[in-house]
Order: sequence, then C-alpha cells, then structure tokens
Amino acid sequence: MRTFLDSVRDTLGKARHVVVFTGAGMSAESGIPTFRDALTGLWSQYEAERLATPEAFRRDPALVWGWYEWRRLRALQAQPHEGHVALAAIERHVGRMTLITQNVDDLHERAGSREVLHLHGSLHAPRCSRCGQAHALSTVWPGEPEGGRRLAPPACVACAAPVRPGVVWFGESLPADVLQRAAAAADDCDLWITVGTSGLVYPAAELPQRAARAGAQLVQINPQATPLDDWYAHRLRSSAATVLPQIAALLHEPG
Ligand code: OAD
Repeated sequence: MRTFLDSVRDTLGKARHVVVFTGAGMSAESGIPTFRDALTGLWSQYEAERLATPEAFRRDPALVWGWYEWRRLRALQAQPHEGHVALAAIERHVGRMTLITQNVDDLHERAGSREVLHLHGSLHAPRCSRCGQAHALSTVWPGEPEGGRRLAPPACVACAAPVRPGVVWFGESLPADVLQRAAAAADDCDLWITVGTSGLVYPAAELPQRAARAGAQLVQINPQATPLDDWYAHRLRSSAATVLPQIAALLHEPG
C-alpha cells in the first residue's frame, strides 16, 4: 500500500487534471447494493436488467416507477461515506478534478463534489416520458407502493403523459453532452482513478481505456478483479471508504 500511495502522491502533486470514475461499488459502503448484487427484499424475484428498460416501463409503468421510487428512497436514506468526503477534499486541492459517475444516486454531490458528470442519469431528475419536462419529486416517501411493488407514476404537469425516472435504461443512449465532456476529460487528464466498477458496461467502460491511450496514469480501487485490470498501472484490492481518505491525506502531508 505504501509504494502505491507514494506513487499516487507524486502523480497527484504534479497532476494538472485528475479524473475519478466511479461505479456502484462507490456507494456500497453507504448501504446501497451494487448493481449486480442480487436485488434484495421486495425486488428479489426481478432481474434489474428486466426492469431498467423502456419496454418494461411501457408494459408496466407502475412496477418500474415503484422500483425506482424504492431505489430513490434508499438513496435519500443513505449517507455519503468518508470516501465520498475524501473525493470532495481532493477536488478542492488539485488543479482540476472531473468526477465521472455511473451511479444515479446523489451521494457525491451531498459530500460536496462540484463537477459531477452523471453518465447514466440520476434518480433525482425524473422527466416526462413524452415532452421531457423535468418533474419535481417530493423527498417524502409517498408510502409503500400498494401491493408492495407498484406505484403509479405521476402525470406530467405540461402534457399529462407519465413521468419516467431520469436514468439511462438498457437500450438507450447516454446523454450526448455528458459523454462528450467525459471523453474530453479522459483525453486531457494526467491521473485517472477508477473506483468500484466492474467495467462491463459500454460506452462507460471505454473511458479509462481512452485515458490510458492519451497517456494518463491509471489507478483502480476495487476489492475484486475486473476485465479491465490490465489497463491499470496500480490495482488496489481494497474498498472506496478505506483507500480514498488515505489518498486525500497525501494532499495534507508536508513535503
Ligand atoms: P457493478 O455492480 O457491475 O460493479 C460494482 C463493482 O464495485 C464490482 O466490481 C465490485 O467488486 C466493486 N465493489 C463492491 N464494493 C466495493 C467497495 N466497497 N469499494 C470499491 N469497489 C467495490 O456496478 P457498475 O460497474 O457500476 O448501468 O455497473 C455499471 C452499470 O451497469 C451501472 O451504471 C448500470 C448497470 O447496467 C445503467 O443503469 C445504464
């Protein structure tokens, strides 16, 4: 660990632009299950991939909306952990930091991170499924969906069509402007730190490879191996809440 931190300290100290790329493992220590964990409790008999699609929403909007409201509540009840706080501290101490997340919770923002790119959208940005009008959601849970699974989506205030979650579903494109900004950060950064992603989903998983081709030093923090391991100069088999505070502490060490 020491040589790893020594190496990261050198690069972090000289870095003009640091990118941190996070996945569901970043939220795991805040109590939010990772994407490919078995869905717990109420939803154990559903495959996430079968709920997170436009077809599922057309087929049964109340089931899909109920699932996302359950996930949104989990995110509201969760608290950022010391790894989220450490990333906000790093952002304040380096020349420039871009935080690219695949996560749809708002834990990075609640920990104080300012430049956050949500590649896969956000649970907190629902919009009309027809006209795209943003929809304000109460942060008060509307009560357990009737029957424990379904909750009718609200109607758009502008056109009365059903409101949908503001997340990217399987088969949908990522928001073009966000992907373009993330790709530009990959081309420009000197240090790329990946935290808590299995590296299975594209085009997100292409971004660290793009940074490596552009000459950045790549660091990965993940207790498990991933298919992208060979792209990383440093692979730390540890957790977000363990390592990130140690990296942030490097910025306060004298000399
Ligand atoms: P996954 O569930 O695929 O992977 C989570 C990764 O985090 C795994 O590699 C774990 O080993 C690692 N992990 C678990 N606990 C950790 C911890 N405490 N610290 C660090 N790492 C930890 O989630 P993602 O890779 O984020 O897309 O999944 C990517 C995308 O797949 C999601 O954004 C979602 C899904 O399809 C959409 O919804 C469009």
